[in-house]
Amino acid sequence: MRRRKLFVCSGLVVALLAMAGSLSPALAQSNFAKAKEYRIERSVPPEAVACIECHKAINPGIFDDWAQSRHASANITCLDCHLAQPGDQDVATAHEKNYARTDLPYGEEKYKVPIATVVTPKDCSRCHPDEVTQYSKSKHANTLEVIWKIDPWLNKGMNSDNERKVGCYHCHGTVVAIDDTGNLDRTTWPNVGVGRLNLDGSKGSCTSCHTRHRFAVSEARKPEACDSCHLGPDHPQIEIYNESKHGTIYHAFGNKFNFDAAPGTWTAGTDYRAPTCAACHMSGTGKVMGTHDVTERISWETQRR
Ligand code: HEC
Ligand code: HEC
Ligand code: HEC
Ligand code: HEC
Ligand code: HEC
Ligand code: HEC
Ligand code: HEC
Repeated sequence: MRRRKLFVCSGLVVALLAMAGSLSPALAQSNFAKAKEYRIERSVPPEAVACIECHKAINPGIFDDWAQSRHASANITCLDCHLAQPGDQDVATAHEKNYARTDLPYGEEKYKVPIATVVTPKDCSRCHPDEVTQYSKSKHANTLEVIWKIDPWLNKGMNSDNERKVGCYHCHGTVVAIDDTGNLDRTTWPNVGVGRLNLDGSKGSCTSCHTRHRFAVSEARKPEACDSCHLGPDHPQIEIYNESKHGTIYHAFGNKFNFDAAPGTWTAGTDYRAPTCAACHMSGTGKVMGTHDVTERISWETQRR
């Protein structure tokens, strides 16, 4: 009799433990990050499902960023941006071997499509033609040409090649090239400089302000989107901003600004109470239309073009 009681008792403990486990998986596996759920409930081409599912397994971070973006909610998938276009020189041929990898989800020949790693303004222009047209006119997009015309600095001259590669090109942009092995030349790639010259002839990289794979307006509207380049003694815009009253208010109350307002609705005084770099140089306000040409609102140009 005694023995049986003990059995029932330990049985109860086991059952309770199991329940606790199933009720709070986080408690049971406290060292595991929770994976974001994503059910494909809409019609997506099978080749795109393959990108999503395989990369979800190998790059949960990329997947997670994309899954939280406006793109994912609008059914825009990996394929829409990375599918190689006819004539693309930068097709990632080495990627095709992944479609023979049985150890990975969707590693099957039937899902194979050519992909490109470099996603240029031309690729975005299919859906965002106005932003790309405006951007292409800006000094951002044309900075390499501007600099080449003005002085020999970025060509040859005052700086060494190494200095240009580890310095200048990270803000101004590289001339993306293919090396002898047919792969992207590692001295020119990866790069998110504003004036990157792409292999398809387009200029710039939209990721300089909209980091992948969130591509969020909320990020681009903050001064931090600009301060990776607009800093330091020769262009101290962020330092000036931070010391200004605008910057002071941004740092004190920025966490209460509504940076998520839909494009075209971001309203001074309502959504934000001090301007950021974007508010003055890019965003629409009142009757002034938004623009991706940062040169449009500059009236004094101290440099030649
Ligand atoms: C809105 C367009 C867009 C979508 C959608 C998109 N990407 Fe990207 N992806 C980019 C851009 C832009 C880059 C950076 C390359 C560049 O600067 O040209 C990139 C880079 C990458 C890279 C290189 C690694 C890195 O982060 O630099 C991988 C891998 C990648 N994407 C996978 C994916 C996968 C998987 C999906 C779908 C879950 C996806 N992408 C969806 C635009 C996109
Ligand atoms: C069966 C798994 C699998 C599928 C399906 C798959 N990939 Fe990949 N992908 C990988 C692996 C593994 C890597 C990293 C190693 C490599 O570059 O081959 C990679 C790398 C990449 C890169 C970076 C390449 C570079 O040059 O750094 C991009 C961009 C990319 N994939 C996009 C896609 C897109 C878009 C799709 C759908 C059309 C897709 N992948 C489908 C497994 C997959
Ligand atoms: C941290 C980012 C960054 C780096 C690194 C950088 N620049 Fe710049 N550069 C800028 C910004 C931002 C401007 C615009 C300044 C302005 O308009 O006030 C600029 C402006 C210039 C201009 C003036 C262009 C014109 O229209 O007259 C030249 C020339 C120039 N940079 C050359 C270089 C060279 C050469 C290097 C490498 C030795 C370099 N830059 C490194 C961000 C950078
Ligand atoms: C210099 C930084 C910067 C670069 C580079 C940039 N954007 Fe933007 N983008 C912004 C800002 C800031 C906003 C938010 C504007 C607002 O307040 O409505 C934005 C908004 C957008 C929007 C939302 C609709 C709109 O126009 O407001 C789209 C789409 C967009 N960008 C696409 C692109 C594309 C495509 C490229 C590459 C050609 C690009 N962006 C490059 C800063 C940038
Ligand atoms: C196949 C079409 C397609 C492509 C290609 C595409 N986008 Fe988009 N993008 C969309 C749609 C649809 C939306 C959502 C529009 C909306 O909600 O009003 C969007 C929204 C955006 C937004 C606004 C996000 C926000 O927070 O409101 C940005 C920024 C953006 N895209 C940047 C890019 C960039 C940069 C590229 C290229 C690397 C790109 N897109 C490629 C269709 C596309
Ligand atoms: C990846 C680096 C980079 C980022 C990020 C960046 N810029 Fe720039 N910006 C530059 C460079 C380089 C120049 C200088 C171009 C030249 O003079 O040739 C420049 C020039 C400018 C100019 C002067 C244009 C002219 O015609 O003289 C303005 C205004 C500007 N940027 C605003 C912004 C704003 C606003 C943001 C953020 C929303 C931003 N930039 C983000 C690199 C960057
Ligand atoms: C309150 C509005 C406002 C804010 C906020 C603002 N700017 Fe400006 N910015 C201006 C005005 C006005 C000019 C001069 C325009 C002219 O030449 O007519 C200017 C000029 C510039 C120039 C060109 C300088 C030159 O000599 O070529 C750059 C680059 C620039 N701003 C970047 C930024 C960056 C980056 C930020 C955020 C850190 C920022 N601005 C914040 C209004 C603003």
